Amino acid sequence: MGQLYQDVKLSIKKNKKNSLNSKFILAKSTSEFEGICTKLETTYGLNINHLLGMGTSCITFKKPDSDEVIKICSRNIKYLKYKKTSLIEFVKESRAMEPYILPVNEMIMDTQSYFVYTQFACQPLNKKKPIDRNQYNNIFLIIRSLFSNGLLVGQLRPKNMGYINDRIVLFDYHSMHYLKDRINNKKKWWHSLIGSIDCYNRLFGLDKYKSLSKIVNQFTDYVKTNRSFDQNKACQLIDDILKEL
Ligand SMILES: Nc1ncnc2c1ncn2[C@@H]1O[C@H](COP(=O)(O)OP(=O)(O)O)[C@@H](O)[C@H]1O
Ligand SMILES: [Mg+2]
Repeated sequence: MGQLYQDVKLSIKKNKKNSLNSKFILAKSTSEFEGICTKLETTYGLNINHLLGMGTSCITFKKPDSDEVIKICSRNIKYLKYKKTSLIEFVKESRAMEPYILPVNEMIMDTQSYFVYTQFACQPLNKKKPIDRNQYNNIFLIIRSLFSNGLLVGQLRPKNMGYINDRIVLFDYHSMHYLKDRINNKKKWWHSLIGSIDCYNRLFGLDKYKSLSKIVNQFTDYVKTNRSFDQNKACQLIDDILKEL
């Protein structure tokens, strides 16, 4: 058994990453995952010390001698499940939203149950560290970029965002949806997005700014209550926020 596979398996267990355990270790495809680990070991010299982070569907390593990370991701992600689309689209969409989204640099492997890609390394946000005006502005630019491309990522929490040259970018868009599909299929499609915005309102201290609060609330109210949601109208409301900032 390859060393990296063994060490990652142990790390998943130790850190009680149940979702990763079922997708990478308990699944029938675990031998496929083992093959990927072996290939990364021999090609890039990866070992367990390069492990950077583990989410619910992806394991991230620092790529040796580079400013990139290597991400092994399960194909069992919302983007591929609901959109019935291909990885080519995934890469294309990530690049269309640059610089607000940290795009896929290179798709290095594509197997039946997993895919492996590189991305620039960034510094993930700290969910307790306050953000300034510029960074708060960045959050709305990311949401605007998603909406204007007809896309939605609800999970915009700090764990999925990072700093790159002082700018905030979204690095995890494995749960990306087509906005129209999501609105049609889920009544409270906005729930996770609004929760994420609330989180940044607190980190920014929005309640200190009366007139800005009013404009931000106009946007969130529109998103929550409007049955015939129009993405252009939502973008206009974001522009009002950006002007006030
Ligand atoms: N570009 C990156 N730079 C630095 N760390 C990253 C990067 N991408 C992912 N990570 C780390 O890996 C973890 C899992 O990756 P993520 O893309 O969030 O996948 P998941 O869909 O499993 O949540 C993140 O929480 C973060 O700690
Ligand atoms: Mg994540």
